[in-house]
Amino acid sequence: MVTATGDRKLPPVVTNNVLRYLLSPPERLVKRYVSSGERAADLGCGAGFHSLAMARIVGESGRVFAVDFDPAVIARLQRRAERRRCQRIITARATSASEIDFIDDGSIDFVLAEGLLCCMSDHAGAIRQIQRILHPRGRAYLSTVKLMRPDDPRTVTREEWEHLLSSFRLLDRGEALMSRWALVGPREGGAPAVGAFRARLGARGPCCC
Ligand SMILES: C[S@@+](CC[C@H](N)C(=O)[O-])C[C@H]1O[C@@H](n2cnc3c(N)ncnc32)[C@H](O)[C@@H]1O
Repeated sequence: MVTATGDRKLPPVVTNNVLRYLLSPPERLVKRYVSSGERAADLGCGAGFHSLAMARIVGESGRVFAVDFDPAVIARLQRRAERRRCQRIITARATSASEIDFIDDGSIDFVLAEGLLCCMSDHAGAIRQIQRILHPRGRAYLSTVKLMRPDDPRTVTREEWEHLLSSFRLLDRGEALMSRWALVGPREGGAPAVGAFRARLGARGPCCC
Protein backbone atom coordinates (compact mmCIF):
# COMPACT_ATOMS: atom_id res chain seq x y z
CA MET A 1 0.00 0.00 0.00
CA VAL A 2 1.29 3.47 -0.94
CA THR A 3 0.61 6.26 1.58
CA ALA A 4 0.06 10.01 1.14
CA THR A 5 3.79 10.62 1.62
CA GLY A 6 4.46 8.24 -1.27
CA ASP A 7 6.11 5.70 1.04
CA ARG A 8 5.18 2.05 0.82
CA LYS A 9 3.81 -0.24 3.54
CA LEU A 10 4.14 -3.98 3.17
CA PRO A 11 1.92 -6.59 4.84
CA PRO A 12 4.01 -8.36 7.54
CA VAL A 13 3.57 -11.71 5.79
CA VAL A 14 5.71 -10.45 2.90
CA THR A 15 8.77 -9.89 5.11
CA ASN A 16 8.08 -12.31 7.98
CA ASN A 17 7.20 -15.71 6.62
CA VAL A 18 8.40 -19.25 7.16
CA LEU A 19 10.02 -19.48 3.74
CA ARG A 20 12.20 -16.41 4.38
CA TYR A 21 13.23 -17.69 7.84
CA LEU A 22 14.21 -21.01 6.22
CA LEU A 23 15.96 -19.72 3.09
CA SER A 24 17.53 -16.59 4.48
CA PRO A 25 17.61 -16.66 8.29
CA PRO A 26 18.16 -13.15 9.73
CA GLU A 27 21.12 -14.27 11.85
CA ARG A 28 23.07 -15.02 8.67
CA LEU A 29 23.25 -11.31 7.91
CA VAL A 30 23.28 -9.65 11.31
CA LYS A 31 25.78 -11.88 13.13
CA ARG A 32 28.46 -10.68 10.71
CA TYR A 33 28.06 -7.10 11.86
CA VAL A 34 26.64 -7.03 15.40
CA SER A 35 28.17 -8.20 18.69
CA SER A 36 27.09 -8.51 22.29
CA GLY A 37 26.63 -5.17 24.05
CA GLU A 38 26.45 -3.11 20.86
CA ARG A 39 23.86 -0.55 19.79
CA ALA A 40 22.09 -1.22 16.50
CA ALA A 41 19.36 0.50 14.50
CA ASP A 42 17.00 -1.29 12.12
CA LEU A 43 15.48 1.36 9.83
CA GLY A 44 12.40 0.20 7.95
CA CYS A 45 12.30 -2.73 10.36
CA GLY A 46 8.90 -4.15 9.35
CA ALA A 47 7.61 -6.62 11.95
CA GLY A 48 11.15 -7.26 13.21
CA PHE A 49 12.65 -9.93 11.01
CA HIS A 50 16.15 -8.60 11.73
CA SER A 51 15.45 -6.52 14.89
CA LEU A 52 14.62 -9.61 16.97
CA ALA A 53 17.74 -11.42 15.75
CA MET A 54 19.85 -8.37 16.57
CA ALA A 55 18.29 -8.18 20.05
CA ARG A 56 19.29 -11.79 20.70
CA ILE A 57 22.88 -10.98 19.74
CA VAL A 58 23.36 -7.62 21.51
CA GLY A 59 21.69 -8.96 24.67
CA GLU A 60 20.71 -7.08 27.83
CA SER A 61 23.76 -4.82 27.70
CA GLY A 62 23.01 -3.67 24.14
CA ARG A 63 20.17 -1.83 22.48
CA VAL A 64 18.24 -2.10 19.21
CA PHE A 65 16.33 0.89 17.84
CA ALA A 66 13.65 -0.41 15.48
CA VAL A 67 12.02 2.19 13.24
CA ASP A 68 9.21 1.86 10.72
CA PHE A 69 6.70 4.46 9.61
CA ASP A 70 3.90 1.86 9.71
CA PRO A 71 2.38 1.76 13.25
CA ALA A 72 0.81 -1.66 12.58
CA VAL A 73 4.15 -3.42 12.04
CA ILE A 74 5.68 -1.60 15.03
CA ALA A 75 2.82 -2.84 17.25
CA ARG A 76 3.39 -6.33 15.92
CA LEU A 77 7.12 -6.12 16.59
CA GLN A 78 6.43 -4.97 20.16
CA ARG A 79 4.15 -7.96 20.76
CA ARG A 80 6.77 -10.32 19.34
CA ALA A 81 9.48 -8.73 21.50
CA GLU A 82 7.34 -9.20 24.61
CA ARG A 83 6.77 -12.87 23.77
CA ARG A 84 10.53 -13.31 23.42
CA ARG A 85 11.20 -11.28 26.57
CA CYS A 86 13.47 -8.83 24.77
CA GLN A 87 11.22 -5.75 24.96
CA ARG A 88 13.75 -4.02 27.23
CA ILE A 89 16.42 -4.35 24.54
CA ILE A 90 14.31 -3.06 21.64
CA THR A 91 13.11 0.54 21.41
CA ALA A 92 10.51 0.48 18.62
CA ARG A 93 9.13 3.69 17.11
CA ALA A 94 6.56 4.36 14.38
CA THR A 95 8.19 7.21 12.51
CA SER A 96 9.93 7.89 9.25
CA ALA A 97 13.57 6.89 8.92
CA SER A 98 14.19 10.51 7.96
CA GLU A 99 12.87 11.68 11.37
CA ILE A 100 14.75 9.75 14.03
CA ASP A 101 15.98 12.56 16.25
CA PHE A 102 15.34 10.38 19.32
CA ILE A 103 18.56 8.46 18.40
CA ASP A 104 21.67 10.32 19.57
CA ASP A 105 24.37 11.55 17.20
CA GLY A 106 27.25 9.10 16.68
CA SER A 107 25.70 6.52 19.02
CA ILE A 108 25.06 3.51 16.76
CA ASP A 109 27.52 0.71 16.00
CA PHE A 110 25.47 -0.85 13.23
CA VAL A 111 22.64 0.50 11.08
CA LEU A 112 20.57 -1.86 8.98
CA ALA A 113 18.47 -0.41 6.16
CA GLU A 114 17.39 -3.57 4.34
CA GLY A 115 14.90 -2.73 1.60
CA LEU A 116 14.17 0.68 3.11
CA LEU A 117 15.25 3.19 0.48
CA CYS A 118 13.23 1.59 -2.32
CA CYS A 119 10.07 1.87 -0.15
CA MET A 120 10.43 5.59 0.58
CA SER A 121 10.93 8.77 -1.42
CA ASP A 122 13.08 10.91 0.89
CA HIS A 123 16.32 9.01 0.28
CA ALA A 124 18.55 11.96 1.15
CA GLY A 125 16.69 12.50 4.44
CA ALA A 126 17.22 8.87 5.51
CA ILE A 127 20.87 8.90 4.44
CA ARG A 128 21.51 12.10 6.43
CA GLN A 129 20.06 10.42 9.52
CA ILE A 130 22.23 7.33 9.01
CA GLN A 131 25.29 9.55 8.72
CA ARG A 132 24.28 11.43 11.85
CA ILE A 133 23.65 8.43 14.13
CA LEU A 134 26.61 6.28 13.02
CA HIS A 135 29.47 6.01 15.48
CA PRO A 136 32.80 7.06 13.89
CA ARG A 137 33.77 3.36 13.78
CA GLY A 138 30.21 2.21 13.03
CA ARG A 139 28.96 0.50 9.89
CA ALA A 140 25.74 0.55 7.91
CA TYR A 141 24.29 -2.09 5.61
CA LEU A 142 22.07 -0.66 2.89
CA SER A 143 20.15 -2.65 0.33
CA THR A 144 17.64 -1.84 -2.37
CA VAL A 145 15.74 -3.66 -5.07
CA LYS A 146 16.75 -2.94 -8.64
CA LEU A 147 13.74 -3.74 -10.76
CA MET A 148 11.49 -0.76 -10.26
CA ARG A 149 10.12 1.78 -12.69
CA PRO A 150 12.57 4.59 -13.34
CA ASP A 151 9.75 7.14 -12.92
CA ASP A 152 8.81 5.88 -9.45
CA PRO A 153 9.83 8.30 -6.64
CA ARG A 154 11.04 5.39 -4.50
CA THR A 155 13.30 3.94 -7.16
CA VAL A 156 17.01 4.07 -6.40
CA THR A 157 18.57 4.13 -9.83
CA ARG A 158 22.12 2.89 -10.30
CA GLU A 159 23.21 6.51 -10.68
CA GLU A 160 21.51 7.58 -7.45
CA TRP A 161 22.87 4.52 -5.59
CA GLU A 162 26.41 5.60 -6.50
CA HIS A 163 25.57 9.15 -5.43
CA LEU A 164 24.26 7.98 -2.03
CA LEU A 165 27.23 5.66 -1.45
CA SER A 166 29.67 8.45 -2.24
CA SER A 167 28.70 10.17 1.01
CA PHE A 168 30.15 7.20 2.97
CA ARG A 169 33.35 5.20 3.10
CA LEU A 170 32.63 2.08 1.06
CA LEU A 171 33.65 -1.14 2.87
CA ASP A 172 32.01 -3.80 0.72
CA ARG A 173 29.30 -4.09 -1.87
CA GLY A 174 27.46 -6.64 -3.96
CA GLU A 175 24.73 -7.17 -6.45
CA ALA A 176 22.23 -9.93 -7.20
CA LEU A 177 19.65 -10.27 -9.94
CA MET A 178 17.00 -8.29 -8.06
CA SER A 179 18.93 -6.23 -5.54
CA ARG A 180 22.11 -4.41 -4.65
CA TRP A 181 23.68 -3.89 -1.23
CA ALA A 182 26.61 -2.08 0.34
CA LEU A 183 28.40 -2.02 3.68
CA VAL A 184 29.56 1.49 4.48
CA GLY A 185 31.12 3.53 7.26
CA PRO A 186 31.41 7.24 7.96
CA ARG A 187 33.82 9.15 5.75
CA GLU A 188 36.92 10.34 7.53
CA GLY A 189 36.84 14.08 8.07
CA GLY A 190 33.04 14.16 8.07
CA ALA A 191 30.34 13.37 5.58
CA PRO A 192 29.55 15.61 2.63
CA ALA A 193 25.93 16.78 2.55
CA VAL A 194 23.72 14.45 0.56
CA GLY A 195 22.39 16.53 -2.31
CA ALA A 196 18.88 16.71 -3.70
CA PHE A 197 19.68 14.14 -6.37
CA ARG A 198 16.03 13.45 -7.16
CA ALA A 199 15.24 17.06 -8.05
CA ARG A 200 17.19 16.59 -11.26
CA LEU A 201 15.01 13.65 -12.28
CA GLY A 202 11.79 15.64 -12.66
CA ALA A 203 8.19 14.56 -12.05
CA ARG A 204 7.44 10.93 -11.38
CA GLY A 205 4.43 8.64 -11.59
CA PRO A 206 3.07 5.82 -9.46
CA CYS A 207 5.00 2.73 -8.39
CA CYS A 208 4.71 -0.68 -9.96
CA CYS A 209 6.44 -2.83 -7.32
C1 LIG B 1 10.89 -4.11 2.06
S1 LIG B 1 10.33 -3.80 3.70
C2 LIG B 1 11.75 -4.39 4.61
C3 LIG B 1 11.43 -4.70 6.04
C4 LIG B 1 12.63 -5.23 6.85
N1 LIG B 1 13.79 -4.37 6.74
C5 LIG B 1 12.98 -6.63 6.46
O1 LIG B 1 14.06 -6.86 5.87
O2 LIG B 1 12.18 -7.52 6.75
C6 LIG B 1 10.48 -2.03 3.84
C7 LIG B 1 9.90 -1.45 5.12
O3 LIG B 1 10.17 -0.04 5.11
C8 LIG B 1 9.07 0.62 5.70
N2 LIG B 1 9.09 2.02 5.30
C9 LIG B 1 8.66 2.59 4.13
N3 LIG B 1 8.87 3.92 4.15
C10 LIG B 1 9.44 4.21 5.35
C11 LIG B 1 9.90 5.40 5.95
N4 LIG B 1 9.80 6.59 5.34
N5 LIG B 1 10.45 5.32 7.18
C12 LIG B 1 10.55 4.12 7.83
N6 LIG B 1 10.14 2.97 7.30
C13 LIG B 1 9.59 3.00 6.08
C14 LIG B 1 7.85 -0.18 5.26
O4 LIG B 1 6.75 0.04 6.13
C15 LIG B 1 8.41 -1.61 5.30
O5 LIG B 1 8.14 -2.21 6.55
